[in-house]
Amino acid sequence: MDLHKSKAIILGFIWAILVSCNIGLSTAEAQADALLSWKSSLQAHNLQSWSLSNASSTTPCNWIGIKCDDAGSIEEINLPGAGLQGDLNNFSFSSFPNLMILNLSHNSLVGTIPSQVSILSKLASLDLSVNQISGSIPQELGNLMNLNELDLSDNLLTGSIPYSLGNLTKLTVLHLYVNQINGSIPQELGDLENLVLLNLSNNLLTGSIPSSLGNLTMLAHLSLSKNQITGSIPPQIGNLKNLIGLRLFINGITGPIPSSIGNLTKLTILRLFDNQISGSIPQEIGYLKGLVDLSLLINNLTGPIPATIGNLKNLTRVGLSENQLSGVIPEEITNLTQVVILNLGGNNFSGHLPQQICRGGSLANFAAYSNHLTGPIPEGLKNCTTLTKLGLYENQLTGNISEDLGVYPSLEYIDLSDNRFYGELSLNWGESRNLTRLQISRNLITGSIPTNFGQLSELGVLSLSSNHLEGEIPKEFGKLTSLLNLSLNDNQLSGKLPPEIGEPI
Ligand SMILES: *[C@@H]1O[C@H](CO)[C@@H](O)[C@H](O)[C@H]1NC(C)=O
Ligand SMILES: *[C@@H]1O[C@H](CO)[C@@H](O)[C@H](O)[C@H]1NC(C)=O
Ligand SMILES: *[C@@H]1O[C@H](CO)[C@@H](O)[C@H](O)[C@H]1NC(C)=O
Ligand SMILES: *[C@@H]1O[C@H](CO)[C@@H](O)[C@H](O)[C@H]1NC(C)=O
Ligand SMILES: *[C@@H]1O[C@H](CO)[C@@H](O)[C@H](O)[C@H]1NC(C)=O
Ligand SMILES: *[C@@H]1O[C@H](CO)[C@@H](O)[C@H](O)[C@H]1NC(C)=O
Ligand SMILES: *[C@@H]1O[C@H](CO)[C@@H](O)[C@H](O)[C@H]1NC(C)=O
Ligand SMILES: *[C@@H]1O[C@H](CO)[C@@H](O)[C@H](O)[C@H]1NC(C)=O
Ligand SMILES: *[C@@H]1O[C@H](CO)[C@@H](O)[C@H](O)[C@H]1NC(C)=O
Ligand SMILES: *[C@@H]1O[C@H](CO)[C@@H](O)[C@H](O)[C@H]1NC(C)=O
Ligand SMILES: *[C@@H]1O[C@H](CO)[C@@H](O)[C@H](O)[C@H]1NC(C)=O
Ligand SMILES: *[C@@H]1O[C@H](CO)[C@@H](O)[C@H](O)[C@H]1NC(C)=O
Repeated sequence: MDLHKSKAIILGFIWAILVSCNIGLSTAEAQADALLSWKSSLQAHNLQSWSLSNASSTTPCNWIGIKCDDAGSIEEINLPGAGLQGDLNNFSFSSFPNLMILNLSHNSLVGTIPSQVSILSKLASLDLSVNQISGSIPQELGNLMNLNELDLSDNLLTGSIPYSLGNLTKLTVLHLYVNQINGSIPQELGDLENLVLLNLSNNLLTGSIPSSLGNLTMLAHLSLSKNQITGSIPPQIGNLKNLIGLRLFINGITGPIPSSIGNLTKLTILRLFDNQISGSIPQEIGYLKGLVDLSLLINNLTGPIPATIGNLKNLTRVGLSENQLSGVIPEEITNLTQVVILNLGGNNFSGHLPQQICRGGSLANFAAYSNHLTGPIPEGLKNCTTLTKLGLYENQLTGNISEDLGVYPSLEYIDLSDNRFYGELSLNWGESRNLTRLQISRNLITGSIPTNFGQLSELGVLSLSSNHLEGEIPKEFGKLTSLLNLSLNDNQLSGKLPPEIGEPI
């Protein structure tokens, strides 16, 4: 064997190791330099461990928030809530060709999103949420073909949503909420066929909801609330078979609720309130058996409540107030045994209230004010001890309030004003120690004011005006130190108001 030859092979081998180490070292060095120069551009940070002079962390792979791949190249930069103050201008994106995760959320970053971010071709997750980043979303973001999650929420972004985001077909999460983004929703977002979460709420978006969003069949939550969106809800919304939450509230949406909504059988939250939605509530709503929250208040809905609502056994919150709904409130509504909030106020309902309105024993907040309701207080309200708020004012309801109402230990608010109730004020209400508003003006109430009303230490508003009350104003009223608004006029009461009323203790 030739000694020289084997020596040469060994030397060559050692040289090769040195060279490969050197390459490794120079990558690590370059990446460390890039991080350190960004760090030095920041006004504040919690990155004390980022230092090459620290003997226990000579490679950036050991630095806080940094993770490297097997070859020693940085693949994750995770610095949420790291107290970063500064901008991304001195962040050398080109130094991190293997970066997959960049999470700088919950910091105080300002400035714009540099378009060079698009050089990070392996990036799967980009989270810059909860900062003060301004400027517009660079259209170059559309080049990040491997992006799975994009969260730019809670910043100061302006300008419009770039069409190019439609290229990010691996995207499962797109969060742009709480910014000042304007313009319309690009129809290209309908190409994001893997999208599960789409939240564009709290922006300045205009235009209508593109029908292409109906292609997002993986979507679980669609949130476009608190924008200036107009036009009608596209019937294609019914294709979103995996939708769990649909939030379109506080916009300028017109037109009807499409009947195709009945195909969204996984829906639990349907919040369309504060728009100008017209037409009637489709009876297909009865297919949404998992619905928990149905908030359609403050719209222009007409027609009756469909009886199919009785199928929605999991409903806990039903808000239909401030519409032009009419007809008799269907008896089937008493099938909603989980209901906690039932608000039917400010409509054109007529006829009697359903008798077993509190059947499930969970009703806390019941309102049917400002309708054309007649007849008595429903029987079921008498033992509805869960009640905290009862608003029945401005109807033509009748009955003896001392017999038809029960004991409500948690009652905070009761307004029966402008009806035809008669009978005497019940001693029971003196036991509702959390009562802050008691309003029964403009009815036919007789008798005197119970002395135990003086126990209502939280009472801020007491309106008993325009009834047939008589007798002395109880001297116990002196204990009503929270009272800000008292009206007793237009009765046959005598005596003086105790001077202590409304004075702080
Ligand atoms: C940041 O980058 C700019 C050029 O873009 C340069 O002028 C400045 O010196 C850098 N700041 C720091 C602290 O490195
Ligand atoms: C050195 O780095 C280690 C590991 O990252 C860290 O725990 C330590 O606090 C650092 N020391 C200094 C003086 O920065
Ligand atoms: C970024 O970090 C925060 C805090 O740990 C975390 O809640 C968030 O989910 C991360 N972002 C992504 C996109 O994973
Ligand atoms: C990205 O989107 C833009 C605008 O929609 C389009 O013109 C371009 O062809 C797309 N690029 C790729 C690679 O799909
Ligand atoms: C969006 O806002 C920018 C300023 O941030 C403005 O220049 C632009 O005209 C607005 N576009 C639309 C469609 O309102
Ligand atoms: C996406 O939706 C639009 C509009 O509803 C439709 O014309 C188009 O065919 C759909 N594309 C796919 C791939 O389903
Ligand atoms: C629900 O989807 C089926 C097809 O899956 C369709 O035939 C039907 O018309 C849809 N129903 C509504 C109410 O849109
Ligand atoms: C109603 O709620 C219960 C308890 O959360 C749940 O187990 C059930 O699946 C729900 N029903 C429907 C139809 O989603
Ligand atoms: C909705 O009702 C409001 C108040 O009644 C009215 O001003 C508005 O014009 C109506 N909008 C539509 C689209 O019908
Ligand atoms: C719903 O309510 C109606 C009327 O109260 C009743 O006849 C019907 O049996 C109820 N349906 C279910 C499924 O409970
Ligand atoms: C109220 O009383 C009725 C009988 O009068 C009873 O069927 C119902 O279960 C009671 N409801 C509650 C919540 O106790
Ligand atoms: C009265 O209000 C307090 C404070 O909100 C609450 O903790 C308490 O449970 C209420 N009392 C009743 C009987 O509901």
